[in-house]
Amino acid sequence: MLIKPKLEGQVVLVTGASAGIGRDTASRMVELGATVVGCARDAARMSDLPVDARRCDVSSAADRASLVDGVLRDHGRIDVLVNNAGIGIAKLVEQMTTADVESLIATNCTGLVDMARLVLPNMLDRGSGHIVNISSGAAWISMPPFTVYCATKSFVDAFTEGLRREASGRHVRVHSVNPGPVKTEWLPRSMGFVPDEGSAEQRDGHGVSVSRVVDAIVRCLLRPYGRTASVPRFPIGLARATELPLVRQALDVGGRMAASRLRA
Ligand SMILES: NC(=O)c1ccc[n+]([C@@H]2O[C@H](COP(=O)([O-])OP(=O)(O)OC[C@H]3O[C@@H](n4cnc5c(N)ncnc54)[C@H](OP(=O)(O)O)[C@@H]3O)[C@@H](O)[C@H]2O)c1
Repeated sequence: MLIKPKLEGQVVLVTGASAGIGRDTASRMVELGATVVGCARDAARMSDLPVDARRCDVSSAADRASLVDGVLRDHGRIDVLVNNAGIGIAKLVEQMTTADVESLIATNCTGLVDMARLVLPNMLDRGSGHIVNISSGAAWISMPPFTVYCATKSFVDAFTEGLRREASGRHVRVHSVNPGPVKTEWLPRSMGFVPDEGSAEQRDGHGVSVSRVVDAIVRCLLRPYGRTASVPRFPIGLARATELPLVRQALDVGGRMAASRLRA
C-alpha cells in the first residue's frame, strides 16, 4: 500500500504536465493537497486540470527563467520540482538532422539541468525540497534507434547523482525515476505522431500504466534521502547490471542487429 505524503501548503512544479506521466503526476499532487503549477508548450491541453497551467518551452532559457520567476512571485516557494518534460526521436544517428540533436539535448538535458538550477536557491534558503528528475531505463541500455535519447537519459542520471551529493547535506533531496516503457504518447510522438492526430488508441504507446510511475514519484517525496527508482523494479532495475562485460557484449550484438534492420 502506498503511504501518502501530506502536501497541503506545498507548491509543486511539474514540467510537461499536459500529457502522460506529467499530467497524471500533476493530478495526483492536487489530490494530495498541493498547489500545483504545470507547464507545457501547449498550455491549452491543461485547461481541464485543476492546476495553475503555464506555457513554457523548457528548451528556451527565457521561458524557463520567466516560469520560475512567475511561480516564486505568485506562490512564494517551490517545494517540489518534477523535472518531467522530455522528448524522444526514433532515428539512427546518421538519419538525424542537427536540429533533431539540438532539440533532444536542449529539452532533455539543458532544460532539465537549468530548471533544477533555477529552483535550487529557494529550496536551499528554506533548507528543504525535492527535485525528481524523470530519467529512463534507457539510461542503462543504449539501443538504436534511440541512441541519442538514451545518451540524454544517462546524462540525467549522472546529473542526478552529482546534484544529490551537492544538495543532500542541505536537506534538498534529488531523485531519479527510471521507467521502462510506459503507456503514453511518448513513443508515437518519438516516431513523428502529432498530438490529436488519429485516435487515442493510436497515440498511446505500450508499457506499464502511468500510475505506476506516479506512485514511484510520490514515494520519492516520502524519503529523507535521494533515491533512484526503476519502474517496474523488475525487470527494469536489472538493466543496471548492463555494466557487466558479458551482458554488454550481448547487448552489442543485439544493438548491431537492430541497427542493420533499421538501415535496410
Ligand atoms: N513513455 C515512456 O515509455 C517513457 C519511458 C521512460 C521515460 N520516459 C520519460 O518520461 C517523461 C515524460 O514522458 P511521457 O511518456 O509522459 O511523454 P508524453 O506523453 O509525450 O508527454 C510529454 C509531456 O512533455 C511536454 N513537453 C515536451 N517537450 C516539452 C518542452 N520542450 N517544454 C515543455 N514541455 C514539453 C509535452 O507537452 P507539449 O508537447 O505541449 O510541450 C507533454 O506534456 C519524459 O522525460 C520521457 O523521456 C517516458
